[in-house]
Amino acid sequence: MDKKVTVVGAGNVGATTAQRLAEKELCDVVLIDIIEGVPQGKALDLAEAAPIEKHDAGLIGSNNYEASEKSDVVIITAGIARKPGMSRDDLLSTNAKIMKSVTEQIARFSPDAVLIIVSNPLDAMCHVAYKASNFPRNRVIGMAGVLDSARFRAFISMELNVSVENTHAFVLGGHGDTMVPLPRYSTVAGIPVTELLSKERIDALVERTRKGGAEIVGLLKTGSAYYAPASAAVEMAEAVLKDKKKILPCAAYLEGEYGINDLFIGVPVKLGSNGIEEIIQIILTDEENAALKRSADAVKELILKIDRIP
Ligand code: NAI
Ligand code: 2OP
Repeated sequence: MDKKVTVVGAGNVGATTAQRLAEKELCDVVLIDIIEGVPQGKALDLAEAAPIEKHDAGLIGSNNYEASEKSDVVIITAGIARKPGMSRDDLLSTNAKIMKSVTEQIARFSPDAVLIIVSNPLDAMCHVAYKASNFPRNRVIGMAGVLDSARFRAFISMELNVSVENTHAFVLGGHGDTMVPLPRYSTVAGIPVTELLSKERIDALVERTRKGGAEIVGLLKTGSAYYAPASAAVEMAEAVLKDKKKILPCAAYLEGEYGINDLFIGVPVKLGSNGIEEIIQIILTDEENAALKRSADAVKELILKIDRIP
C-alpha cells in the first residue's frame, strides 16, 4: 500500500482499529505495544485472515518504534481502560505518562505524521500529545465526537425505526459527562430530530449518549467499548489518508474559536491530508454555548491536574 498507519496499543481498541484499517485496504498497518509478543501475534493473526478477507494490506507487530518510521497517520490507543466504577478521569495520571513517552518516540520516527489520539481522558491526552510532539495543532486530533455522535445516531435510529444511514448527529465538547449533544443539528434524512421527537424523548436519548461509554463498561465489566471506538478512529484516518475534506466532530486545539483558548475540545472540523484543515464555527444558542463552556472548564481542570503530576 502507498500509505502507512501505526496503531500504538494492541489492546481491544488498537487491534480492532488495525483490523478495520487492513480490511478496508486503506494502508499498511504497524501495531505497537509494550507487551512482548502481543502486537506480533495479533498482526500475524490478522495477516493470516487476509487471504479470506481479500486484502493486501501489510501487517507488522513490534515492540519498538523503528517499525513505525515515516507513518502517514499514527493512532494512539496505548494506556489503561475503564473498569466498572471508574470514570475516564481516573485514568489521568497513568495514561498521561504513557501518552508522553509514546508521543515522543512517535514524533522522532514520524515527524510529519497526523496523530489521532484515542486514550482517555481524551481531551487531556490530546493536550499531552500536542505538547510532547511539538507538532502544529492541525496534526494532533482527538477521537471522541465521531464516537459520541455515532452513539446518538444509533439511538435515534432505534427510536424512530429508520436506517442509521438516514441519521446525522453532532456531539461537541469534551469526551466526558459534560459532552454537548446538539439535537438542533441532528437530523433524519435532513429533518431536525427536534421536529420528529418530543423534548422528553430527545432528553432521554441525549442522556443515554452522555452515558454511552459507561453503559458498555457496565455490561462488559472487564473493560470499555472498542468496536465503535475503532470504527470512529478509522473514519477519521480514512478522511486524512484519502484527503476527503470530511467534516466530523473531533477534539481540536482551540485558539480563540468558540471563545475558547489553548484547550482541546470537540468541535466540527474539516479533515484532509493536512489533518485539521479548518475549524468550522457553527452558531450556537446561549444555552449550547454555556454547555460548551462548562465542558471546556471540566477539561481545563484536568489539564491543571496533569501539570501537578510529579
Ligand atoms: P486495552 O487495555 O485493551 O489496551 C491498551 C493497550 O495499551 C494494552 O495492550 C497495553 O499493553 C498497551 N500499552 C500500555 N502502555 C503502553 C505503552 N507505554 N506503550 C505501548 N502500549 C502500551 O484498552 P482499550 O480498550 O484498547 O482502550 C485503550 C484506551 O482508549 C483507554 O485509555 C480507553 O479509555 C481509551 N478509549 C477511548 C475512547 C474514546 O472515545 N476516545 C473510546 C474507547 C477507549
Ligand atoms: C467510551 O466512550 C470509554 O471513552 C470510552 O466508550
